Amino acid sequence: MRLGVNIDHVATVRNARRTFEPDPVHAAVLAQMAGADQITLHVREDRRHVNEDDLRRILEVVHVPVNLEMAPTEEMREIALTHRPHRVTLVPERREEITTEGGLDAVSLKEFLKEYLKPLKEAGIEVSFFVDAETAQIEASLEAGADAIELHTGPYAEAFNARDQKRVEEELRRLRAAARFAKSLGLRVYAGHGLTLQNVEPVARIPEIEELNIGHSIVANAVIFGFERSVREFLKRIKR
Ligand code: PXP
Repeated sequence: MRLGVNIDHVATVRNARRTFEPDPVHAAVLAQMAGADQITLHVREDRRHVNEDDLRRILEVVHVPVNLEMAPTEEMREIALTHRPHRVTLVPERREEITTEGGLDAVSLKEFLKEYLKPLKEAGIEVSFFVDAETAQIEASLEAGADAIELHTGPYAEAFNARDQKRVEEELRRLRAAARFAKSLGLRVYAGHGLTLQNVEPVARIPEIEELNIGHSIVANAVIFGFERSVREFLKRIKR
């Protein structure tokens, strides 16, 4: 199991004061030193946290792969083709949302996505779709040409936070079935969203999932006990 550390919310703190600190690049370097397998960042249309310059600087200094989450727009594709991260994860984006709310609708967008991802794949960038744990979305991802999917663990995390054990079990069953199905189609399987030190272990135990992308909770814990320790605590839980 690999850990992708999402450093977006380091930039959220920086941008709250429109200043230069904390620098998400420093966090990316510390995450790498603590054992992170990947750095993940989401350049949003409104640049509310990281921006293109953060992406450029991170790619310059880190040695682990970089995963750029982005909406499937022309502007973002240009950014990806200019900076060449190792992977692009396509996510839906709505300006008014606090964070990504649902998975990409690969079923409705299939024909568009098929064309959209061609230049990315030709540039040697792995393309992953962030999708809900649904058979139809997984099939459509494969048909559109995705190399991988990232399963949306938000509904599981919400159930966990609400202490609704029945829904937790239900969401875990959905994640397990979706991971198995995606892997059987030949897709690589990742997962993320809303994962915390408390709820990460059952997801980390799903054998088909190769990688988890975690952001908010790592930064939240970093504020309390430091960035490196926060990354190490997550690594301990997901690798054991
Ligand atoms: N994976 C994807 C595709 C995301 O959009 C996000 C949020 O940017 C994450 C993982 C990380 O979610 P969280 O910040 O809740 O850990």
